[in-house]
Amino acid sequence: MTETEKASKYEGILAECRSLAEGETDAVCLMANIAAVIHEEMKFWWTGFYRVIDGVLVLGPFQGPVACTRIKKGRGVCGTSWAEDRTVVVPDVHKFPGHIACSSASNSEIVVPIHNEDGQVTGVFDIDSQYFDTFTETDAYWLGQIAALIAI
Ligand code: SME
Repeated sequence: MTETEKASKYEGILAECRSLAEGETDAVCLMANIAAVIHEEMKFWWTGFYRVIDGVLVLGPFQGPVACTRIKKGRGVCGTSWAEDRTVVVPDVHKFPGHIACSSASNSEIVVPIHNEDGQVTGVFDIDSQYFDTFTETDAYWLGQIAALIAI
């Protein structure tokens, strides 16, 4: 898929996520459907959310294989995204120091932070691919737009 094709696919996904978000007040419910839409449309290996609960990232709604349930701040890709409050793109997870391998089939990953209305990180949106080099600035941009729909 070219970057242009990818962007136009994400454009449709964002529209679908916007309509799912409309009038929905429960963040878990919305995260569940957003994970389903993206996972189905993009055919990723694992698509899901972790929420900050009592100072730790706790597994939330997801699609894909069973995953690690709790991640500390600063640990792995998810904990790094949370601690540094930034989107982290990892072309090869085997080269990322401290990467937490929930599945040996995962080879690349992107993690996007989720914020509340005060700008605090309240969770992360994590996507794993079975291929290397899956995620680019295009994914970071569109997944950031989608993550912004969720206020938790
Ligand atoms: N690989 C992640 C852990 C979560 S799983 O990929 C679902 C990490 O290093 O934070």
